[in-house]
Amino acid sequence: LLNAWTSIGEQHQCRVGKAHLKVFVTGGAGYIGSHVVVELVKHGYEVVIFDNFSNASSNVPTALSELCGVQITVTSGDLRDASALECVFSDHSIDAVMHFAGLKSVAESVADPLMYYDNNVLGSLQLCKSMRKYDVKRLVFSSSATVYGDPISVPIREDAPAVNPTNPYGMTKVICEKMVLDLCRSDPSFSAGILRYFNPVGAHPSGLIGEDPKGQPANLMPLLTNAAADPTAVLKIYGCDYPTKDGTGVRDYIHVCDLAAGHVAALNRCSTDSQHFIANLGTGNGFSVLEVIRAFEQACGIKIAYQIAPRRPGDVAICYADTSYATEFLNWRAEKTLKDMCLDSWRWQEQNSLLGSHM
Ligand code: NAD
Ligand code: UFG
Repeated sequence: LLNAWTSIGEQHQCRVGKAHLKVFVTGGAGYIGSHVVVELVKHGYEVVIFDNFSNASSNVPTALSELCGVQITVTSGDLRDASALECVFSDHSIDAVMHFAGLKSVAESVADPLMYYDNNVLGSLQLCKSMRKYDVKRLVFSSSATVYGDPISVPIREDAPAVNPTNPYGMTKVICEKMVLDLCRSDPSFSAGILRYFNPVGAHPSGLIGEDPKGQPANLMPLLTNAAADPTAVLKIYGCDYPTKDGTGVRDYIHVCDLAAGHVAALNRCSTDSQHFIANLGTGNGFSVLEVIRAFEQACGIKIAYQIAPRRPGDVAICYADTSYATEFLNWRAEKTLKDMCLDSWRWQEQNSLLGSHM
């Protein structure tokens, strides 16, 4: 499949006059970070990845270099380790930071909240301290629609209440958002974009990178592709009595490549005239669980066995974005369809077993 893809590095050798800004990407070996790395290289940025590989495969750096057509610099280290961070900041002249590194399981955060506050809050704090020390003043931060908790109304705008998430993971995002905004207010030369993702799914169309969680996946799309791959598996639908179009939960699924493009747009905004901003990254469309299953069956030609199960504790009925701010301010919008998301998720599943592919 790679042959069908022009190497991005090759495309870039043709670019003339593009400034080679160097971007430090924390969590760049993970699901979203790796797709953003590809998009950054495509736009002529240099990238330095920093990751402790707690939830990433050691295959990712090779896949990225193959996909990007250039060697990607990867440093293995933990964000909470000040000396590891300082090594990178002192070795490289970093222009901007994209911060993806963090733990992201809602259920795990309920079971072990201190691990989440320690990793996500202290890790982000240490990163901001190192940025200040090395005078790096542009930051794009991964936040989540989980900060909105159970939304009062949909579509959700950025000015909706975002202080009362239903789980400790979400609270770590609220705290980090506040920390970043306070830092911006204290230093007018520091600029930051806070991006609230809705439900990222899909994979790079090459099938070389995708979501590769350690342990059992908990999200709908990887469980759906697992069910498609295993004829004995039955997908559980958590609740069919929500006040939605067909009773099942409604979400705003966004293709990870669209999400990645949104990050480059945000970085450009940080780099120019804007000091700080918060933007939803979603499509603005809500699909129910049953609609996703049907779309997958049609796109991939595979029947999914499912059963209705009780509601999953902590789930909200319906969550989708108002995307008008991102459209106007970032000049970005998601382009890929639910069919694209299903096809690319399935290609990734077929080429890489989700369970046990970590090395
Ligand atoms: P991921 O787990 O695939 O990637 C996170 C990466 O960070 C992993 O490679 C992991 O090894 C690394 N990491 C974790 N803690 C670290 C630490 N202390 N030091 C160094 N590296 C560390 O997750 P993802 O889906 O790519 O998510 C990226 C970011 O986006 C996270 O901050 C997540 O909370 C946020 N987010 C994700 C989703 C989603 O559904 N995937 C939704 C909203 C927000
Ligand atoms: N669902 C099922 N069966 C499953 C898994 C999920 O029916 O086996 C349903 C859920 O009940 C929900 C929908 O599919 O209605 C989506 O569930 P996901 O677990 O895929 O995603 P969530 O919306 O629950 O959560 C995701 C991320 C969170 C993030 C949130 C908002 O996992 O980290 O989106 O961005 F905070």
